[in-house]
Amino acid sequence: MNITKTEKSRIEEVDFNNLTFGSVFTDHMFFCDYKNGAWQEPQIVPYGPISIDPSAKVFHYGQAVFEGMKAFKDDAGSTWLFRPEENWERINKSSERLAMPAFPKEFFFKGLETLLNLDNDWIKAGDGNALYIRPFVIATQPGVSASPSDQYRFMIICAPAQAYYSGEVSVLFAEKYSRAADGGVGFAKAAGNYASQFYPTNLAKERGYQQIVWTDANSHEYLEEAGTMNVFFRIGDTLLTAPTSDRILDGVTRKSIIQLAKDAGITVDVRPVKVSEIVAASKSGELKEIFGAGTAAVIVPFKSFGHQEKDYELPAQEDSYAARFKKALKDIQYNRATDPHGWRYEV
Ligand code: COI
Repeated sequence: MNITKTEKSRIEEVDFNNLTFGSVFTDHMFFCDYKNGAWQEPQIVPYGPISIDPSAKVFHYGQAVFEGMKAFKDDAGSTWLFRPEENWERINKSSERLAMPAFPKEFFFKGLETLLNLDNDWIKAGDGNALYIRPFVIATQPGVSASPSDQYRFMIICAPAQAYYSGEVSVLFAEKYSRAADGGVGFAKAAGNYASQFYPTNLAKERGYQQIVWTDANSHEYLEEAGTMNVFFRIGDTLLTAPTSDRILDGVTRKSIIQLAKDAGITVDVRPVKVSEIVAASKSGELKEIFGAGTAAVIVPFKSFGHQEKDYELPAQEDSYAARFKKALKDIQYNRATDPHGWRYEV
């Protein structure tokens, strides 16, 4: 790997107590180009703009995929990733769906670890502090013919992060727009999956909601996932979430929560979730919580949901599942608890 270090770190300019999510990046970035049918020598260089031909396919056809991961620093100063192999596997699943080449495991881990060691001072200890890691792949072949690129760039950039959402979150259940369809790319972290949510989410924001919970494209009768998170429902003491499919992202936080709930002896129901049952459970008082779960957002309790012009408030919980799972997850991530499933990975 070729490494070019920055001449002057920017770390002193950063207010680590006042971070807007994903807006400040560390001193270095990793990249590796694909051409002539092979991944080339990986590089680490100072963070900064890159030069790409304006006809590159990523700009015209959105041939791009990404991942979201986090690194945590424990109180003794050691740095940990959380289930990084899941992200490596998923970026390659996403790439396959977008007709892009798989990125080798050794390159992924070597690149990640070298970059995190180099920019280690940017990872701050303390609850809620993390380094958000964004691996991504873009199609760089010049030319606007609508066919897969034969050149790609894999990159990793990193941003020190605290909370993704500030404050409480109200969501709108989608009735008109859809995020994903059967046979489509909903399961992949394809860049376009997120771009296509911006317009309907803006409309929802104008009405005072922060996010949309997407419903299935065929009937809009089943709840699927929110824009940046998978979604969980607590009815009575049962935890309910939709199964993953080719429309729903197989979230790492989602699968970790399911495991933590099972470990705690909580009944977990993974099955299609009807809008009508959630509305009915809210009216009857059986609906105790709804929360979102994702790498960037961690676990976010929803305050209310909107459906067909009506808002439904969620009751405040003394011992909420959202708070319980968030604590359990963070205790593992920050190396404060045992790690029975081997999710921590020391860098
Ligand atoms: C993540 O949680 O890491 C994501 O990729 C969601 C992102 C759109 C902020």
